[in-house]
Amino acid sequence: MSSNSIDGNKFLQWRKKMILKGGRKIDFDWLLDIGAGVSWGDLQNIILKPENCISLKIPIIELEGIWLSHLKDQTPLQHLISKCPWRDFELEVSAEALIPRQETEFLIDVALKKVANLKFGRWADLGTGSGPIAISLAKSLPDWNGHAVDISKDALDLAERNLKSIFANANVSFSLGDWWEPLERWWGSFDLVVTNPPYIPSNLIEELEPVVKNHEPHLALDGGDDGMYSSKKIILGASIGLNQGGWLILEHHYDQSEKIINLMKNIGMEEVSFEKDISGIKRYAICRKK
Ligand SMILES: C[S@@+](CC[C@H](N)C(=O)[O-])C[C@H]1O[C@@H](n2cnc3c(N)ncnc32)[C@H](O)[C@@H]1O
Repeated sequence: MSSNSIDGNKFLQWRKKMILKGGRKIDFDWLLDIGAGVSWGDLQNIILKPENCISLKIPIIELEGIWLSHLKDQTPLQHLISKCPWRDFELEVSAEALIPRQETEFLIDVALKKVANLKFGRWADLGTGSGPIAISLAKSLPDWNGHAVDISKDALDLAERNLKSIFANANVSFSLGDWWEPLERWWGSFDLVVTNPPYIPSNLIEELEPVVKNHEPHLALDGGDDGMYSSKKIILGASIGLNQGGWLILEHHYDQSEKIINLMKNIGMEEVSFEKDISGIKRYAICRKK
């Protein structure tokens, strides 16, 4: 029996006690899975056969400390365990960058579909944060040149560390600066730009849940008065930055689709369209430079 092995009945009583202390059951079970290696399947097995023992990757007392910290000041569990699974890898996360969101996972599928026929090319991830988009593109387009940009040095360093630990030999450069600006040398040569900019209108930031508002960088959330300050800059820049036939794929807030699509059309972009996220919300805007 490993030192973190515990009797099934005791484990289930402890789990019940923790859930009764507050918070969401789904979050507690997420912590069990990602923090302690107890998957949903393991949980079902022990519920069916509580006479068995269950093995945890970290001591139960440590897990309890993490849960209680989360309840006390709403610190995101991802910050407390310093990691977050995303698509087919696990990222180091910290308070310096946005915790990658589930809806952004599908942004990658939307982007990859557009360039499926291009073996070589140049991509950019504008506002890379902890690096989820850049790492996915690097993995899926290994023969391309990649560029990850962020205005936060801490976020950029985190993204670089994540890329090194997940895909050490990737051909990706990291640039500090404002959207397209640090990539000036390559303007006109990008075949794909994927971006998830800050898009929450400033007046809604105060209304976000404490777990977000008090712990995630506002630089990653606040999209200015109409929530589209950054998106507009990126779209306008795309008319210079993209290669002929290059694609821009942009994630936006739930109610911005029409305005973003119109802007893309108004500046002469082609093949302008949208895709919905897994909840059926128009979440991704797509366009192509003539
Ligand atoms: C919504 S977060 C997205 C992070 C990451 N791409 C993801 O999906 O998890 C937006 C990112 O844009 C960065 N950012 C904000 N303003 C910027 C600017 N002017 N130029 C470049 N990056 C910026 C933030 O630091 C943040 O990392």
